[in-house]
Order: sequence, then C-alpha cells, then structure tokens
Amino acid sequence: MSNAGKMPKEEGIDHSVSLIREGYLYILNKRRSFNSDIFETRLLGKKAICMGGKEAAELFYDVEKFKRKDAAPNRVVQTLFGKNGVQALDGQEHQHRKEMFMSIMSHEELTRLTDITKKQWALATTKWEKADQVILYEEAKEILFRTACEWAGVPVQASETKNLTNYFSAMFESAGAIGPTHWMGRNARNHAEKWMQELIEHVRQETITPPENTALYRFSGHRELDGNLLETEVAAVEVINIIRPIVAIAVFINFITLALHHYPEERKKLQAGDEKYAEMFIQEVRRFYPFFPFVTALVKKDFTWNGYQFEKGTLTLLKHWKN
Ligand code: HEM
Repeated sequence: MSNAGKMPKEEGIDHSVSLIREGYLYILNKRRSFNSDIFETRLLGKKAICMGGKEAAELFYDVEKFKRKDAAPNRVVQTLFGKNGVQALDGQEHQHRKEMFMSIMSHEELTRLTDITKKQWALATTKWEKADQVILYEEAKEILFRTACEWAGVPVQASETKNLTNYFSAMFESAGAIGPTHWMGRNARNHAEKWMQELIEHVRQETITPPENTALYRFSGHRELDGNLLETEVAAVEVINIIRPIVAIAVFINFITLALHHYPEERKKLQAGDEKYAEMFIQEVRRFYPFFPFVTALVKKDFTWNGYQFEKGTLTLLKHWKN
C-alpha cells in the first residue's frame, strides 16, 4: 500500500446500521468505492477505521499496536463470545489462556474428535434412512453438538439434547442480529452458561469425573497466572468456546452441500477420495461463503502507518476473508 496521506473518510453521523445490514459486504463495498484498503467511518457513535488486505492484517495482529480487550461490541460479547473469554485477552494473559486451549489440540485428541465425528454421522445417517425428509442444517447442528460434547467430556442427557443444541446455535445465529433475535441469543447464552457452570462445579467437587484429556476436565482445573482456579463463569465461557464453534460448522456443512448442488461436477472429483483435493475444496468453500465478516481491536497507542494516523482507543475492524 502506498503512502496515501489522508485516510479516505465515509461522511455522515453513524454507519452502524449499514454495517449490520450489509454485513460481510460493508467493508468490501466501501473499499471498492474508495478504491482503498483502508478508510475511516463512524460506528456506535465513534470514529472507527476499517481495513482489509495482507499488509493491514499484519498490522492488525501487531500486539504492540492493537489490543482486543473491550474491542468487541457488547451485543457480540453477550451472545457469541461470553464475558472474559480468551477473545478479550491480551499479552501474557492471552498466551496463558491460549495454552489451555492448545493443550487439548494434540494429534491424539484431534484423531479422537475425528473418530467421534464419524461415529455420530454414521448413527444419524442410519436414522435418516427411515425418515421422510431431513432438514440438513438442523440435523447437522445436533450431530455436531453431540460430537462436541462427547469430545469435550460433557455429559448430556438424551432428553436435553434438542434444547441445548438450540441454545448453542442461537449464540452464533444471533450474533449480528438486532431486536428479538438478539434477545433470544442472550437468553440462550444465559441458559447454556448456567448449565455449564453447574457441570464445572460438579467436576471440581468430583461428583462427576470426565476423562483427564478433555476440555471439561482441563478447563475446570486450569489455574490463572496468579495460581487461582478460573472463575466458574469464565471456565464455563471457555468450555462453551469449544462446543459452540464446533456446532457452528453446521453452517459450513450447508455451504458444502450448496456448493455440491451448484457445481455437481465436484461430487465425482471428491468421490475419487483424494484427500488433498478434499482439503482444497473445503478451503474454497470457506473462501467463497465467508462466515466471519470482520474482527475488532482497539488502537493501543498513537502511531502512524503508511502516512495514516491511528489514535489510541480507535475501534479498528479488519475484514477477515479474501475477495
Ligand atoms: C471453519 C470454522 C471456523 C471459523 C471460520 C473460525 C473463525 C474464527 C475467527 C475469525 C476467530 C478470531 C480470530 C481473531 O481474533 O483474530 C476465531 C477465534 C477462535 N476460534 Fe474459531 N473458527 C472456526 C472453528 C473453530 C473451532 C472448531 C473451534 C473450537 C474447537 C474454534 C475456537 C476458537 C477460539 C477458542 C478462538 C479464540 C482464539 C484466540 O483468541 O486466541 N474455532 N475463530
């Protein structure tokens, strides 16, 4: 990006509604109309910077220049992320919490997750053979919820599965919404957090004993840098941070199905069983049907980049997908 001096600016009082309405396309549309990878706007009553592209992404992840604490809009915290989870941490605290997440991402554990996933899909497809119709998105969410819970060591009664799946999916389905859908998302998060907090208390009192390699066991026993156990509320947010994104993959399963419908020639190529091709196909689905429009951070201290001024405290959005 060349040194362009003054940052292009979207005029007007506030553009939060355009951002919610246009979603993924907001930053892309404006980048095109300004013919710039960076522009200034106003969101939630304050100056904000939107940017995209490789150089901007490198800048955005510079921990000396940006912080994530308090950057996510409250409505996203109340539905998608939960309070005081890994997404809002910086520096050493982030590193330490991230290590807790990475401790369950070993090759062995990921193989176990793959095996559980295969088993849960096989169980479901056997059931579908007798069904008149299958609503793939709804089924996929439930399969993935069962998979995620089994992997995370979280016990679920059969009678609770449907309700809990709905709570977990409402968190990501409502994240960008306003009005009743947003409130449904908040309500769902409250229910899911309460359920998870009780499980964590049980693990701590040893009234339930999940396997030691699981998220429920590890996060319940995780200690902060000060040596204290995670607060129960935070441990619950973090176990949910494992289960919720796995359930959200149902969205991609639908995108994959849509892609196979629109591009039927791909089916044969995938049926040939070449794993490398399958990986390429999946990455293309992720690129073509993006899921997460942008990530947010706050400018940590004043700095200049490519001739543009970034002032401390400015909300900055990075477009998170290729176009
Ligand atoms: C294809 C599916 C997925 C997509 C598109 C996706 C997307 C993202 C994005 C955009 C971020 C934010 C990165 C940032 O702050 O810069 C993120 C963070 C995160 N994701 Fe995912 N994710 C996916 C699957 C998953 C799964 C399956 C899990 C859990 C098993 C997961 C757990 C997390 C966690 C814990 C974080 C926070 C990491 C941190 O703050 O360091 N994600 N994800």
